[in-house]
Amino acid sequence: MKQILIHYTSETGNTDQIANLLKQHLEKRGFAITMKQIGLEDIVNISELHQFDGILFGTYTYFDGELPFEIEVYYDFLEEIDLTGTVVGVFGSGDTSYALFCHAVDLMKKQFEQTHATVINHTVKVDLYPEDEETLAAIKKLADQFEDALIHSLPVGNPC
Ligand SMILES: Cc1cc2nc3c(=O)[nH]c(=O)nc-3n(C[C@H](O)[C@H](O)[C@H](O)COP(=O)(O)O)c2cc1C
Repeated sequence: MKQILIHYTSETGNTDQIANLLKQHLEKRGFAITMKQIGLEDIVNISELHQFDGILFGTYTYFDGELPFEIEVYYDFLEEIDLTGTVVGVFGSGDTSYALFCHAVDLMKKQFEQTHATVINHTVKVDLYPEDEETLAAIKKLADQFEDALIHSLPVGNPC
């Protein structure tokens, strides 16, 4: 069974809601899901990323388009690891009243791309919390594409 990690940070609960919707979609499809909210104490756990076939990463955006403080070390750590064979999807919440809407989602997507992971091009960027049809469809689309990429990927560590 494919092992999925939903790894996310959320201060006021909006990104948490998106994470839960993604979890519901993927549970129905029979994946084994580990869901973890990132805190400063989790920094060392980043080295466990290799154990998963797929990672769905969620973040809100802070200050002027910046990463939340608690994932800065995570971001730096990704520069040093190789996630070849791992499927990654990125999602997050922001607020369209800010100039750099959901910019942390773009920053994390780029950072995962340079780990050589298979990063899904479609990202989910939600204005505050997921509610309208279009947003719910965008979340389902990420779950669909993530599942598709996982099914077609080789098992992690397979040398072929
Ligand atoms: C001080 C501050 C700065 C923010 N800066 C941005 C920003 O630059 N871009 C953006 O899209 N959202 C920005 N936001 C909005 C948050 O990302 C948004 O409220 C989000 O829903 C919070 O997610 P959470 O509930 O998962 O913590 C900012 C919020 C605060 C309080």
